[in-house]
Amino acid sequence: MAHKAKPIYVLGTGLSHDGSACLLKDGRIQVAIEKERLTRTKHDGFNDNAAIQYCLDAEGITLSDLTLIVQNANFGMFEFGSEWYRGSKRLIEDGMPVVTISHHLAHAYSAFGTSPFDEASIFVLDGCGSGLDECIDLAGATVPERPEGDLASLWFEKDSYYRARGTDLQPVFKDFSPVGMIWKSYPLYPFLTRHSIGGLYAGASNYVFRGLDDSGKLMGLAPYGRPGVFDFDAFDLQDGRVFVRYDWMPHFRQPARTDGDFKENFQHYADLAFWIQKQVEAAILYVVRSRYDLYPSPNLCYAGGVALNAVANARLLKEGSFERIYFQPAAGDNGLSIGCAYFGWLSVLEREKITHDGSTSFGRIYPSSDMEAALEKRADFVRVTRSSDYVADAASFLSDGKVVGWFQDKSEFGPRALGNRSILADPRLPRVREFINAKVKFREDFRPFAPSVLLEDAPIYFECTDDSPYMLLVAPVRPEQRNAIPAVVHRDHTARFQTVSKELNPKYHRLLSDFKQQTGLGVLLNTSFNRRGMPIVETPDDAVAFFLASSIDVLVMGDFVVEKISGPKADVISVAAFFRSTVRPLIERNLAEALRIGGVYEFNVASIQRWTVDLSAGRLLVGESVPDGRPDVLIDLTEADLRTMFEASSALQGLIQQRRLKIRGDQGRALQLLDIVHKRPSD
Ligand SMILES: [Fe+2]
Repeated sequence: MAHKAKPIYVLGTGLSHDGSACLLKDGRIQVAIEKERLTRTKHDGFNDNAAIQYCLDAEGITLSDLTLIVQNANFGMFEFGSEWYRGSKRLIEDGMPVVTISHHLAHAYSAFGTSPFDEASIFVLDGCGSGLDECIDLAGATVPERPEGDLASLWFEKDSYYRARGTDLQPVFKDFSPVGMIWKSYPLYPFLTRHSIGGLYAGASNYVFRGLDDSGKLMGLAPYGRPGVFDFDAFDLQDGRVFVRYDWMPHFRQPARTDGDFKENFQHYADLAFWIQKQVEAAILYVVRSRYDLYPSPNLCYAGGVALNAVANARLLKEGSFERIYFQPAAGDNGLSIGCAYFGWLSVLEREKITHDGSTSFGRIYPSSDMEAALEKRADFVRVTRSSDYVADAASFLSDGKVVGWFQDKSEFGPRALGNRSILADPRLPRVREFINAKVKFREDFRPFAPSVLLEDAPIYFECTDDSPYMLLVAPVRPEQRNAIPAVVHRDHTARFQTVSKELNPKYHRLLSDFKQQTGLGVLLNTSFNRRGMPIVETPDDAVAFFLASSIDVLVMGDFVVEKISGPKADVISVAAFFRSTVRPLIERNLAEALRIGGVYEFNVASIQRWTVDLSAGRLLVGESVPDGRPDVLIDLTEADLRTMFEASSALQGLIQQRRLKIRGDQGRALQLLDIVHKRPSD
């Protein structure tokens, strides 16, 4: 009897922020997951146990089945090696076959490995990569400028250009930028290194939104700005290189410190967004054209966080020199594990490149029994039917104007939901955008929504002939169609559209087709299944909990069609009631002492509800909200642990030791307050 050959498994793991793991089986992605989806903490990274275990479990294997492990983080990988973890001990131990690679090389392999090309150029552009002293891809590359001796550890990868054919990938040009922390006396400056395009864009998003992760929001804000308000150059463009100028920085003196600042000076921030977006587009075009001249190829693979700028991407396709561009959908550091895995397969094992099918759905399958269990737990609050044609049902709900939570098959890897973990609505309804922003996503009202469109119908609506399967391109909406799909047309009459093909996602394609049959329109509003600041739902349990806590009308999860029973909503009511009936009175018992400690405490309960205890203004305020400005303390925990924390002082230490509580900010103050909570008034 012939035995099947044992499969070759390569595990890639990313230990930066936005950590992830990716398992290749015989050169194909079998399963991959971002850590934040599992821990429910946005941008979670560093220790990689949770993501690795998920991949092993999904495939039913153990670490000993792996032929090779390849890892990457931003800094310190080589000095600290496998010691690089925060939190509990790593699953990967000494003695396992581990290879460590540098940052841009991992981005490059993530793009080439999943691209449809056998021959291509690769361009990597992000906020900041590895130190020059840690790069393993310098041999053969032109490095235009490098410092002497020890300073090499303070120069970081800025942009990298490679050429690749089959298993062979060679660096062509690598530019570095020195660390630039000293510039932080300006409110707006590039983070991390002095001349980073991505770092400057992140710096601008921090100036406007108080967060380095809000680059996508800044791009969405830009069309509200006016041309010509700022007319200075952000960069010097010389010899194929980009240098940030510092002479304009004194012009920006009013960073938004609260949501109120942002609203009051909206036009200032919008004008800044408009200006920086245009400047960054010009810089990207300049560098990419210069690199093309060094190694012209018809095909470009593009990764690094800057590759998420869909407006710049559209210009690269239109005005750049490459005929075809593959934008790696997990372009940020979340995609590093994918690059690591492909490095293992192509470079270490020297195996043949197997063409990827273009999917981003790398999560595991959840059986119906998991969905049933999640619904059973909340049986008092939901009405559930199993449908033999749930796709047609979903199309009917949508054409009736309902907002539908759509949970099907494997979760998508990357920042966009592409029809497996999506919230969907009818784009003909002009008010649906405000409704979803305010009642479902809890985000700013200027933020646009993106359309999914049947691939074959895309030219009817958009002035673009390129496929956009990953929502990484922006195109003008045809003037005659703008009134047909008002909910997905941005301020400047563009849309960040997704083309849906039968091959890549047959179920979602069928949903769009059914919707078209009922309405004549093959377009849906598609936004990710989460709310502001929350990772996209991964499990059926996440989906049902979020559905009940939001204003989504219907949940279609597998073949379960779920509606809410009107009246109290299970999870909302219980957490709300707990804060009012338990947390508030416990603090009030020793109010004077609590007020002396002061501070603003935000509780992020199961990543679904945010509650604030505010002792900063000489009185106690308890409410469901995101605080205006940064809280002093941010505590992430589950509903059950919230109860434990307040109800039993003895359990608190246990929760901290087991790392079930994640306390960020002023830890000492948090512990003082909890001490007061558990103190009897007579103590
Ligand atoms: Fe990166």
